Amino acid sequence: MKVKISNTGDQELAFTPTAAIPLYGRSADHLRDHRHVTSLLQRISTNQYGVVVSPTLSFDERSHRENRVAYAVLGAEGDGQSPVGFCPVLEEFIGAGGSLDWPEKIVDRAASFGGPNQQMAGYEAIGALRFAPVQLKPDETKTFLIIMAIGAADTDFTALAQKYGTEDAFDRFWQENSHWWQEKLNKLSFRSGDGEFDSWLKWVTLQPVLRRIYGCSFLPYHDYGRGGRGWRDLWQDCLALLLIEAADVRRLLWNNFAGVRIDGSNATIIGNEPGEFIADRNNISRIWSDHGAWPLITTKLYLDLTGDLAFLLEEQTYFKDHHTHRAQALDQVWSVADGFVQQDRNGQIYHGTILEHLLLQNVTAFFNVGDHNNLRLEDADWNDALDQAAEKGETVAFTAFYAGNLRELTGLLQALRDREGCTTIELAAEMLILFDSLHGKLDYDSVVAKRTLLNRYFDACQHTIGGKKVKVKIDDLIADLTAKADWLMEHLRKQEWLENAKGFAWFNGYYDNDGKRVEGDHPTGVRMTLTGQVFTVMSGVATTSQVQEIIQAADQYLLDPKAGGYRLNTDFGEHELELGRGFAYAYGHKENGSVFNHMAIMYAYALYKRGFVHQGHFVLATLYRHCRDFAQCRIYPGIPEYMDNQGRGLYHYLTGSASWYLLTLVTEAFGVKGILGDLCLVPKLTKADFPAANTSSITTVFAGRKLTVTYENPKLLDYGTYQIGVVKLNGLLLKDQAPGEQVLIKRELITQLPPGQEIKITVVLDRR
Ligand code: G1P
Repeated sequence: MKVKISNTGDQELAFTPTAAIPLYGRSADHLRDHRHVTSLLQRISTNQYGVVVSPTLSFDERSHRENRVAYAVLGAEGDGQSPVGFCPVLEEFIGAGGSLDWPEKIVDRAASFGGPNQQMAGYEAIGALRFAPVQLKPDETKTFLIIMAIGAADTDFTALAQKYGTEDAFDRFWQENSHWWQEKLNKLSFRSGDGEFDSWLKWVTLQPVLRRIYGCSFLPYHDYGRGGRGWRDLWQDCLALLLIEAADVRRLLWNNFAGVRIDGSNATIIGNEPGEFIADRNNISRIWSDHGAWPLITTKLYLDLTGDLAFLLEEQTYFKDHHTHRAQALDQVWSVADGFVQQDRNGQIYHGTILEHLLLQNVTAFFNVGDHNNLRLEDADWNDALDQAAEKGETVAFTAFYAGNLRELTGLLQALRDREGCTTIELAAEMLILFDSLHGKLDYDSVVAKRTLLNRYFDACQHTIGGKKVKVKIDDLIADLTAKADWLMEHLRKQEWLENAKGFAWFNGYYDNDGKRVEGDHPTGVRMTLTGQVFTVMSGVATTSQVQEIIQAADQYLLDPKAGGYRLNTDFGEHELELGRGFAYAYGHKENGSVFNHMAIMYAYALYKRGFVHQGHFVLATLYRHCRDFAQCRIYPGIPEYMDNQGRGLYHYLTGSASWYLLTLVTEAFGVKGILGDLCLVPKLTKADFPAANTSSITTVFAGRKLTVTYENPKLLDYGTYQIGVVKLNGLLLKDQAPGEQVLIKRELITQLPPGQEIKITVVLDRR
């Protein structure tokens, strides 16, 4: 921190500057439990620049460990002059009955501060630094540097203070830091003609990067988390990272797949090292039904941007612990000594392709059904607060998501066949069970038959698997997955589409733990969820006319402009605890009916994807307008997790919303997409996206090159009335471009340009 104090008055001022920062130096858990006992571990010392605390132990009753981390508060004047005194013990600083707002050491002018080389043990510490008295003439300024540091116990904190503790050094490192972030954020930028919006998007771009670094628990606004990164969040944050950090992402994705278990479930927390996983943050045996759905979306985006189909054939291990049968049973034979990696019966580590991991995640979901033949909700889905319906709950919403995924997988298999010449792929022999059509087709209407088959598979791989692989014809797999996807889509359209007494119609999203359908008319009022609509629209389960009806129902029951957009659900009136804790939250907050931005933005994405561009644009624009209205939202620039009843933004920065906002803008609104490695431009910009000028442009990375696409809209045409006219690449006309909705530019056209060369594409929008 650089603190500058200026005398803006017309008289000379005299003061004694003191900076004080408490040094807590232990786990947040000890704020309540053993706070005093852990203070007895503190070893406190002072050096020339400040106070250092090195606790003796890392306190954990299950197994205390020697502590090797030190915490320090150091200070210096702008010219590097060190402080003149230190008070390292909190109770001495505040005095008996004092407080941090009224510390005795400051209030009592006669109080003295000790010097360097003090040693103390067993107290709460504070980095209270006293500087030499200052005389400040009018218009004069005095600068102080305050350094907070965490380092290895043997860190030379004096050297550290000398390195950073002058105003010159501070300014230099500040510049360096700022430059580093600017570089990163410049990978993706927008010039829409509305400078304020473009700058706001910088903050949105920063959000997924912050969450990748810090997990979900680094700000006081966020009241949960232990620093790890959750499975679902990790995969979705990668969506945005692919748009800005593409180079590192292949490895990141490959590592993440090692978290998948052989039963299709996965470890939920990703540790600090690549490929390090923890089954659950709080050691609870639980499974989220949605987790298996996300990796495909992210992998597909990666494949589309790169064309790297070979990635699907890379091999990776599976995660193993004592949970089997999707945490419905325990493997009594396994022990920690066996290691957290799936082995075969010969004690060898089993490797399967990335494709095999993906197939497994999505195909197991097909068989994992509740009484209504939809995916079991298990311990929750995307909505963490739907956590009370593990027995009878079903998530129709994610049934739709997996249905879309099965279709998506057939596309990838076709690409492998047609582009890579693969006619067969290898799978673990046990997995053939899951491709029932290869050996006499199952009756998909039968819930019992599906569960029996899935259990047969779980039994076959409950401790180890055989290790044998079999070759399966790609065409057979495509046929199998197509049959499954078709069945699911029909099933959902037939069974879960509902109409209420007022004539509005939408998809039911859930069944609760009594096995009762959640949505529709209800004695306490209409029950509708946004989630149930988002994934049916996104996956293609909803037909075009159904999407139209969904929009009307959502506008009627979920849209609340005052709160900043579409709410996650209507007010269920009474506590629907048969579904989850969320319904015990006050209505309009968090997962009970707030404007939960992640889902609202995925709604926008789904609408764009289905061609409902103006409606999608409305969702994004409403959200932006709300976020930038400080009087309403009361947040720094960026997107908060949700808006409460008063429209206030909460849980700022740490939200998957940011990734989806960018993804929607880049791949849908600006329509800059990859198609298995080729570049495709399909703009879905509305007239409102050209607010000031007739051009709107985006800079992103494609094929390792900086790419700027500029849309020129001289006649200010709206979406639906224009088509693509002239297209120029680095000033040269693309000759064989026929007028239409999209331009396809072969990857070679871009990669043949010298590396490092910026690519500029101009697209003129013409009347249709
Ligand atoms: C948070 C969690 C996310 C979860 C969501 C709803 O959302 O991080 O995993 O799906 O709550 O329960 P976020 O803050 O990412 O928008």
